[in-house]
Amino acid sequence: MITALDHVAIAVVSIEEARTFYENLGLSVAGIEEVEHEGVRVAMIPCGGTRIELLEPLSEDSPVARFLERRGPGIHHVCLKSDDIDADDRSLRRDGVELLRERPGPGAEGAKVQFVHPRSAGGVLVELSEPAGSRS
Ligand code: CO
Repeated sequence: MITALDHVAIAVVSIEEARTFYENLGLSVAGIEEVEHEGVRVAMIPCGGTRIELLEPLSEDSPVARFLERRGPGIHHVCLKSDDIDADDRSLRRDGVELLRERPGPGAEGAKVQFVHPRSAGGVLVELSEPAGSRS
C-alpha cells in the first residue's frame, strides 16, 4: 500500500550548484550517496513530511546524463512510499501497468524500489520505494 510521498527527484548537472537554492530557503542536505548501479550521486533534502532528491549523473552514459541531454535539468521522477513493495508490484502487474524492473530491487538508502513507466502514469516516471527496515 502507498503511504506517503517519499520524495520528488530533480535531475541536476551539479549537486554543489543546485543545493544553494534550497539552502537559501533554509533547507539542508541531510546526506549525499553514490548509487553506482544507477550511475547517480543523490542528495536528500528533507522538506516537511517529504524530501527533495537531487540527482547528478556519475558518468556520461548514466540514464540521468541522457535525461539532462534530452530535456535539461528538471523534475525527473516522483517517489511514493510503499509499506509492501512486492505486493504493490504484483497488483500493478495484474493491472497491466508497465514496470521498468523485472522485480523490485535495491535503490538509494538501502530501500527496495520499482519504477513505473511514464506511459502508465500520466507522463510521469514514478518510483515506488519501501524503505530499509520498514517491515518487521
Ligand atoms: Co528517487
